Amino acid sequence: MGRLIYHGHSCVELTSADGTRLLIDPFLTGNPNADVGPEHFHDRLDYVILTHGHADHIGDAWSLVERTGATLIATYELASYAQEVKGVVNAHPMHIGGGWDFPFGRLKLTPAIHGGKVESDGAEAYTTIPAGVVLAVDGTRVYHAGDTALTRDMELLEGQVDIALVPIGDNFTMGPEDAGRAIRMIAPRVAIPIHYATFDLIAVDPERFRTAVGGAADVRILGPGETLEI
Ligand code: NI
Ligand code: MN
Repeated sequence: MGRLIYHGHSCVELTSADGTRLLIDPFLTGNPNADVGPEHFHDRLDYVILTHGHADHIGDAWSLVERTGATLIATYELASYAQEVKGVVNAHPMHIGGGWDFPFGRLKLTPAIHGGKVESDGAEAYTTIPAGVVLAVDGTRVYHAGDTALTRDMELLEGQVDIALVPIGDNFTMGPEDAGRAIRMIAPRVAIPIHYATFDLIAVDPERFRTAVGGAADVRILGPGETLEI
């Protein structure tokens, strides 16, 4: 059985039964709500997955992949930046709509409506399209929406997701009511709010999300460091 651990903001750790360890959007250093620092992952990290290039999602990605040898999974432009500018050795470029069968399971990038700037030094030429990600870990299908508006494209995920992590912070992404509509479109078993409460501009009460979801999914509001068996 795998585990999902929330580390605050949009940072989500997934581990599979065989010990494979994945980290999505590793914003730890400088994240006031992170429960751990990057050193927590130095003993083992197999994959770092970036939904897009904003600083609150890249976070510690470059130092983590250098330190651990983890493979970076990102859109082509972001993966190219990592390789050409940051010297990242193991990068797997992908793009929206494409999937790949990794040793841990299948991973597919989904559309996300948001900004494409890559916020890291020397990144001027590397704008990209933000992504969401659907990945299977030990057969459990997890959707991390990245930063996105509500979009009808989410209807295409209906029946394909067991656990959905969706931004609810408003201002930069969906707010809790639109996120509730997203969950009703996707119809996952479990819905988890992310990307809220980190900064004043996204200070949203997650209970609004629970109300907006209604009975459409089992809403789990995870505090930083909390684990969900998957
Ligand atoms: Ni963003
Ligand atoms: Mn963000």
